[in-house]
Order: sequence, then C-alpha cells, then structure tokens
Amino acid sequence: MKRRNFIKTTAIASSIAIMPILNSCKNMVSGRIRSAHIGVGGMGMEDLKAMSSHPSVDVTALCDVDSNYLDVAHKMFPNAKVYKDYRVMLKELENEIDAVVISTPDHTHAPASLMAMEMNKAVYCQKPLTHHVTEARAMQKMAKDRNLITQMGIQVHSFYDYKLATLLIQSGIIGKVSTVHAWSPKNWGFDGAAPEGSDPVPNHLDWNLWLGTSPERQYKEGHYHPMNWRKVLDYGCGTLGDMGVHIFDTPYNALDLDVPNTIKTECRQPTGFGFPEKNVVTYEFPGTKYTTENFKWIWYDGEGAPTQHEDLMLPNNEKLHDQGAMFIGEKGNLYLPHFQLMPKLIIDGKFEDMDVSKFNLEEPIRDYGTEAPKHYHQFVDACLGKDECTAPFSYASRLTETILLGVIAQRFPNRTLHWDSKNAKFAEEEANTFLDAPYRDF
Ligand SMILES: NC(=O)c1ccc[n+]([C@@H]2O[C@H](COP(=O)([O-])OP(=O)(O)OC[C@H]3O[C@@H](n4cnc5c(N)ncnc54)[C@H](O)[C@@H]3O)[C@@H](O)[C@H]2O)c1
Repeated sequence: MKRRNFIKTTAIASSIAIMPILNSCKNMVSGRIRSAHIGVGGMGMEDLKAMSSHPSVDVTALCDVDSNYLDVAHKMFPNAKVYKDYRVMLKELENEIDAVVISTPDHTHAPASLMAMEMNKAVYCQKPLTHHVTEARAMQKMAKDRNLITQMGIQVHSFYDYKLATLLIQSGIIGKVSTVHAWSPKNWGFDGAAPEGSDPVPNHLDWNLWLGTSPERQYKEGHYHPMNWRKVLDYGCGTLGDMGVHIFDTPYNALDLDVPNTIKTECRQPTGFGFPEKNVVTYEFPGTKYTTENFKWIWYDGEGAPTQHEDLMLPNNEKLHDQGAMFIGEKGNLYLPHFQLMPKLIIDGKFEDMDVSKFNLEEPIRDYGTEAPKHYHQFVDACLGKDECTAPFSYASRLTETILLGVIAQRFPNRTLHWDSKNAKFAEEEANTFLDAPYRDF
C-alpha cells in the first residue's frame, strides 16, 4: 500500500474509532421520531407510556382491534390518528411515521413487523420476537438487509442487575460456565380441547383482525382475548415464550451463545390445543469462550418450579426466589434472581462479597417505572443516531429461535431433538412441520 493511502486509511479508521457513525431512522425529519403503536392495551399501554416519555417522540398513530383500549389511548394522545387495522395504518401513514411499536399477541408480531420493515421503519417489537422460527429468521434478514434500527421489548435487558451479571460472568468471576438453571412457577398452560361453540363477539372487538394471519376460529369469551391467548398454540408460546425470554436473556447474552444443538422437553403428552402446564426443557449448546465445551441450559416452569437440584441449594438455607437463574461455573456459582435484585456470588457453598465498582455502572434504580423506560429511550436515541440498541433483531432473533425450539420440543415429550442451525431444520423430520405455519388471508 502506498504511504499516502495508508495514512488516509488509518486516518479514516481512527476517526471511526473515536466517533462511531451510528445508523439512524430512515427518512426521519427534524430530529423527532413519529411513532405508531400497534396494540395499546395490556403491555401496549406500558410501551406507549414508556416510549412517549422520551422528549423527542411524537405519538402519531394508534392501532388496536379492541376499541375499548383504543379509546383510552386516544384520550391520552388526542392528536394521534386511530386505526383498527395495522395494514391500513401503515399504508396510509407510510410517509408520516418513523418508528413502529408492536405490542400485540405473539402471532401478530412478525406479520406486522415485516410489513413495517418493508417500509424501512424502525421497529420496537415485544418479546418473544416471533411465533415461528422461520419468522425470526425472516425478521433478522430484513433488519440486516435494510440496516434498520430494531429492538425487542425485553426492557430488563437494560436494567442494572442484568448488565452487572453479564459483566461479572464475562470477567470470569466463576470461571467457565457449564450449566445455567432458570425457572418460573408461572403456568401459561391449558390441558383440554379447544372450547366448543362460540360466543357473540363483543361490539368493541374485531375478531377477524385479532385472528390476523392465524387460522379461522370461533370467538369464545375469556379463552383468548385478552392475555389468555398465551396458553394456546396458535397464538402464544406458553410460559417458556413468556418468561423464558426474559430470564434466559442474561445468560444468553453474557455467555455469547448461539442456537442450541439439542433440545429436550419433559412434559405431558400434547393435546394439539394448549401448552403443557409444567415443563423441564434441557438445551445443549456448542461451547463459547465463556462456557465449557458443552453448555447446558435447563428451564423449569409451572407449579412447584424449579425441580429440586443440588445446584439450587442456597447458603444459610436461604429460600430461592420465585423466578431466576443460577450460573454454575468452574470456580463457583452466580445467582441472579428475577428481577431488580443484586446477583449473588456463591463460592464453596457460601455467599461472597463482590467488588463491583470497577465496572463503572450507573447506580441501580430500584423503581420499575423509572428503570423500564431506559430500554425504550435507547431505541429512540438509536433512531436519532445517538445510541445503539442492545437487543436488536440480530440478537433477539437468535434468542427467540432458541426459545421457540424448546416450545416445539413440547410437542415431542421426553425426546431429544437435534437442530441443524445451518439448514434451519431438525434431524427429526416430523418436528420440522412446526417451524412455520401458513398465513391466512384476512
Ligand atoms: N416485556 C414485557 O415485560 C411484557 C409484559 C407483558 C406482555 N409482553 C408482551 O406483549 C405482548 C402483548 O401481551 P399482553 O399481555 O399485553 O396481551 P393482551 O392480550 O393483554 O393485549 C394485547 C393488545 O393488543 C391488541 N391487539 C390484538 N391483536 C391486535 C392486532 N392485530 N392489531 C392491533 N392490536 C391488536 C389487543 O386488543 C390488546 O389491546 C405479547 O407479545 C407479550 O409477550 C411483554
């Protein structure tokens, strides 16, 4: 290389190192982010409040298939345009919005996100990123191809204790990690057939739009909308998809994991309608620089979770928190309760103090309402070109794929499934049927 060119190249390289060029929202004008929100009841209302608390956000559009929820949100943002069909909203407002927030039940995450991403919008999508593995891969690809700002709604990813646990693990405080146990006693399972007959659809709900791309089904009060869709295979991902994403996020991130090689779920026989009420899911991953050669993640959910295990005995007979994770390392264990509680180091069966000052983290905020918006504000700042998202779809899609493989394994109780990540297929042909589902025209 000629010297002049070398100097030119190194000068550019060093200026990049000092002042990284951050991506920002496509077509964003005047340093403000015009947001459109799909699903504004339940978590959607929390998303709306947290996103709009950023001073540079203008809430421009609100969409919900249930007019009761839409009315409440509209009262809060009377200048926003309102819609019940996200497709109509996105088409009409293509040039008037920069970012789309998706807070619907899981089966609508990918159809709505992909449509918004095709229009080059920045997308904040609730967890789990998708309902199907193929959708997670499609969203990852589109975000990458179009270089879009994206963030999955795992707000605890930006919380103090999770960031600290990641730094502790990566600093080698317990050596290489061989196993993580994680648990939640929540039960988003349902043992029974699909309810028979139908109930009148309430005037405030558009049931066809709620079903969206999922198969046609009769409306039954209390079974699906709101919230209970989590228990049903066609719409949700059971407890693993609900809580596993949050609780496995830190181990996944800290240990720099990719997708697993094998997955086995211990649970009852499937019914074809609802998720099992109690699951123990064992994943085996290829080793990384932070793990032993083979690494295991074991997830326990449902009543009584976790199953008793010697790794989960706490010093001083302390009681395990309801939900959490335990990292098992060569030199000791790190216990991470869920959530807003300090990780604890356990060496030789005793709690040990840790010096965390060297990590230069901001002080912990022990108030959910103040700490949660950080993850949303990070997304908005990324849209403005001032920050980077820490849970973009490049990351979220792999974490979600991992979770969904365990959800599929619930259809094959006590059988080890082998995942071929390169070809996105199970070795067990019968399991491949569940990687995808046809979209209904609606
Ligand atoms: N990050 C978190 O801590 C957290 C917490 C709870 C829920 N969630 C996630 O948020 C999502 C929603 O969960 P929820 O508990 O709020 O469910 P919910 O059923 O209580 O609310 C869903 C909302 O979306 C609306 N909706 C449904 N289909 C729609 C469509 N096609 N277009 C527009 N609006 C539609 C519903 O009317 C309702 O207002 C899920 O993906 C869930 O996993 C995340």
